[in-house]
Amino acid sequence: MRTNSNLSRLIHEIFNAFPLKWPVSLMLVVSCSAINVIPSIFIQKVIALIENAGPDSSWQEISVQAAGLLIILAGLYIIALSGTLINGYINAEVTQGFLKYLRVKMFDRMQNLPLKFFDSQSHGDIMSRYTNDVDALRQMVSQGIPQMLTSFITLIVILAIMLYFSLWLTLVTLIGVYAMFKITKRVGGRSARNFKAQQKNTGELEGFAEEMMNGQKVIKVFCREDNSIQDFERLNNKLFLESEKANKRANTLGPILNNVGNILYVVTALAGGLLILTGAENFSLSHLPMSISVVIPFLNMTKQFAMNINQLSMQLNSIISGLAGAGRIFALIDSEPESDNGEIIINHESALGSIEFHNVDFSYDNESKILHDINLTAKPGQKTALVGSTGAGKTTIANLIPRFYDVQAGKIFYDGVNIQDLRKSSLRKNLGLVLQDTNLFSDSVLENIRYGKLDASDSECIEAAKLVGADEFITRLPEGYNTFLTGAGENLSQGQRQLIAISRAAIANPVVMILDEATSSIDTRTEAQVQRGMDALMKGRTVFVIAHRLSTVRNSDLILVIEHGEIIERGTHSELMQLQGRYYKLYTGAFELS
Ligand SMILES: Nc1ncnc2c1ncn2[C@@H]1O[C@H](COP(=O)(O)OP(=O)(O)OP(=O)(O)O)[C@@H](O)[C@H]1O
Ligand SMILES: [Mg+2]
Repeated sequence: MRTNSNLSRLIHEIFNAFPLKWPVSLMLVVSCSAINVIPSIFIQKVIALIENAGPDSSWQEISVQAAGLLIILAGLYIIALSGTLINGYINAEVTQGFLKYLRVKMFDRMQNLPLKFFDSQSHGDIMSRYTNDVDALRQMVSQGIPQMLTSFITLIVILAIMLYFSLWLTLVTLIGVYAMFKITKRVGGRSARNFKAQQKNTGELEGFAEEMMNGQKVIKVFCREDNSIQDFERLNNKLFLESEKANKRANTLGPILNNVGNILYVVTALAGGLLILTGAENFSLSHLPMSISVVIPFLNMTKQFAMNINQLSMQLNSIISGLAGAGRIFALIDSEPESDNGEIIINHESALGSIEFHNVDFSYDNESKILHDINLTAKPGQKTALVGSTGAGKTTIANLIPRFYDVQAGKIFYDGVNIQDLRKSSLRKNLGLVLQDTNLFSDSVLENIRYGKLDASDSECIEAAKLVGADEFITRLPEGYNTFLTGAGENLSQGQRQLIAISRAAIANPVVMILDEATSSIDTRTEAQVQRGMDALMKGRTVFVIAHRLSTVRNSDLILVIEHGEIIERGTHSELMQLQGRYYKLYTGAFELS
């Protein structure tokens, strides 16, 4: 059922992408394969010419007639060859174009998926859809489908010509075909399951390899190389076993069918011989009597017939893995995109930047509640600090403001408008975010800063870096602002990466800023410097800071202490110190919260 729907969806998609070229390509396939079979009729005619020649026939006449037939034959071959060549070109264009079309569709959809999707899927498995599954589909579209069609058409044409020659011999062939069909169904059906599993296991393996690449340092420091090799071997073995089974079955199918084909050949020859000897009546469309000139081309066709059934069965594998790949690709394309029903657009110039939470409850998985009844008001220009132990829910609160996730209960307002009613892109353009894990791209430092505002000039980028105190270290880099960051900033220190991320947020000039642990990896001296830059940056903006170091949150207008997803204390530094509660304990006990 799934396979069928994948097939019809696939055909529909190719038609969508190439409404003209694909049908032309298929027409060429059909006509060329039909033309390729016709010579059998001519072979019969040439043999009959010689067979019927009597002692008084003129050899010149026979030669002329034979030559005429051969010229027509050559003409047909040339037409078929040209058609095949032209189709080779069109087929490459259709196949590669279609894969490009699918990749774009996948990537477009991926860019619009909610974060929830990435939380629940291994990244390597998503990757493998772009590589492995697309490749399986390439095999299927470029070879599987055309060859299947060729074989299918050839079989029909051969069958028609067989009926033209002899009904009895056709029946013999059909019995053989029935046997072949049964065998294919039995062996092919089993390997189909293995091929599907093979595709899925490849995705898992790629996911694992990717995770291990990212975790190299952790693996090394915990000396877990052997464990990860063992885990890899386990996954690799699973993949191997499924692929082995799939291919073993697929590989036995060909030889079995070949042998059935050979037996069929012998049986047909015997049957033909018997029919000639007994002089039985030959029922056929051509009304030709049974003779050598009928049996020889017929045997030729029996061979072609068996060969085509064999090819058909071989293409079955590419079709099965292609369809499995198509299923996984369509699953990505069909994933529910991030909904955006909001219509209201924030005016960047006149936005004030007030943020309010009213009775907000939140859970990542709709089961365990992470935030309980959060109420807060951040007035324009105010600095709000979120403190609390690790896992308390600080980052989660920050995630809700840009609507990375939607709340289960309660409301969040931006300038008095429920953020559900705001266009997401507009909301996000008016928020600056510096995340706990900075994400830099493989590009120059300058371009990484410009990412915050694509039309910013070079000098604007440098200004922003100066403002947050990043300029000093950037100018000391080998190529300054043009230094290329490899592997998402692997050639920088964590603190340096954060400074670039802060510059990036600064250049976007949003009225609301969210800084999640933004200064945690910066040394004390740099921190003071960054703090000055940040203070300048924060002026006139609504700011949320999440920091483990209480020194960075002390001067906040409002400090919220979060524990287990609840706000347990709120007030200014001095108010909270007076309260002598949790904040006081944290501040006087250990300077660091965690
Ligand atoms: N993407 C996610 N999917 C499911 N649960 C999550 C996800 N992110 C965080 N959580 C859970 O939500 C809770 C709060 O996490 P959160 O990241 O908000 O803590 P935090 O206060 O920022 O901690 P830290 O100070 O360590 O950064 C944790 O129990 C965590 O397990
Ligand atoms: Mg956090």
